[in-house]
Amino acid sequence: MGPLSAPPCTQHITWKGVLLTASLLNFWNLPITAQVTIEALPPKVSEGKDVLLLVHNLPQNLAGYIWYKGQLMDLYHYITSYVVDGQINIYGPAYTGRETVYSNASLLIQNVTREDAGSYTLHIIKRGDRTRGVTGYFTFNLYLKLPKPYITINNSKPRENKDVLAFTCEPKSENYTYIWWLNGQSLPVSPRVKRPIENRILILPSVTRNETGPYECEIRDRDGGMHSDPVTLNVLYGPDLPSIYPSFTYYRSGENLYLSCFAESNPPAEYFWTINGKFQQSGQKLSIPQITTKHRGLYTCSVRNSATGKESSKSMTVEVSAPSGIGRLPLLNPI
Ligand SMILES: *[C@@H]1O[C@H](CO)[C@@H](O)[C@H](O)[C@H]1NC(C)=O
Ligand SMILES: *[C@@H]1O[C@H](CO)[C@@H](O)[C@H](O)[C@H]1NC(C)=O
Ligand SMILES: *[C@@H]1O[C@H](CO)[C@@H](O)[C@H](O)[C@H]1NC(C)=O
Ligand SMILES: *[C@@H]1O[C@H](CO)[C@@H](O)[C@H](O)[C@H]1NC(C)=O
Ligand SMILES: *[C@@H]1O[C@H](CO)[C@@H](O)[C@H](O)[C@H]1NC(C)=O
Repeated sequence: MGPLSAPPCTQHITWKGVLLTASLLNFWNLPITAQVTIEALPPKVSEGKDVLLLVHNLPQNLAGYIWYKGQLMDLYHYITSYVVDGQINIYGPAYTGRETVYSNASLLIQNVTREDAGSYTLHIIKRGDRTRGVTGYFTFNLYLKLPKPYITINNSKPRENKDVLAFTCEPKSENYTYIWWLNGQSLPVSPRVKRPIENRILILPSVTRNETGPYECEIRDRDGGMHSDPVTLNVLYGPDLPSIYPSFTYYRSGENLYLSCFAESNPPAEYFWTINGKFQQSGQKLSIPQITTKHRGLYTCSVRNSATGKESSKSMTVEVSAPSGIGRLPLLNPI
């Protein structure tokens, strides 16, 4: 297969050859009024995907079409053209190897890149009598779909009022503006929040349990915006000062004592009880059936969160009254 066997529709003419063709086509330069419309399919294309610029209401009896990148119709911006006679494709300097113009003037762009966004001009050359041919120009703006941003956090389990957090919104581009959202409200510029690099990084000098989020970031370019999925923080906190229930401290001998201790903590605290400083048992609840005066003393519930490394405790004094008339009951029995 030599070069001569190439079919005419794939004939490749260098951009120098285009000069001649372009000047021939431009011979018929006059405006036309046809309602040519251009539509992108899909309307917003993601990077790496293909987009078809569909041309509707193409007039009859055309000599050819030229696609330009941008709005300047000079050789430098010449992508590709289609010459009806001979079904020839011509490629210009703006051709990247990813564009295909069809015989119906539609343009396919494959593997779209950021640089493909922006305006395109379609130049339609109508066949005319040699001097009065007509031509039309139609510009179209190609929009890229923004990628969905996502948040990375340099500490997935921050400790309350302790850890400094850095949120980063990905991907990075000098062409995006970054906006942060907390609970659906855009984060105001606050002294608590530092934003060193173009707002892409959000630093929380400290975080409290009430600031778990959801956090979102948004990227915007001149054509639109896109939100990340929400991110909720798992803030480690506590244990706070525990409470002991019930809080009454007087018992009568023989009564059952049931105490329960609770402290706010994430993750839940570990609990243990001491009586007069002596380890009694671990767990949130303490029960002593049929309490006696021996059980008087200082009851302490201690709590500990190994994730935060914090500990706390609460004490209460338990009084047990002596049994009134112990040993007397049998004596009451008649002998
Ligand atoms: C588009 O990208 C794919 C995968 O990277 C590649 O195989 C293909 O040749 C590309 N097509 C064009 C027209 O560049
Ligand atoms: C033009 O041709 C392409 C490729 O065959 C096709 O996908 C597209 O639908 C055509 N456009 C119109 C407007 O018919
Ligand atoms: C997270 O980033 C902040 C700010 O740069 C830094 O102070 C902190 O030490 C980082 N935390 C971790 C766990 O790397
Ligand atoms: C930002 O936009 C400019 C001009 O549109 C482009 O040349 C550049 O490649 C873009 N940068 C990124 C990282 O997308
Ligand atoms: C969290 O919010 C509650 C209710 O608004 C408040 O009582 C509490 O003090 C807050 N805690 C912190 C650590 O900010």
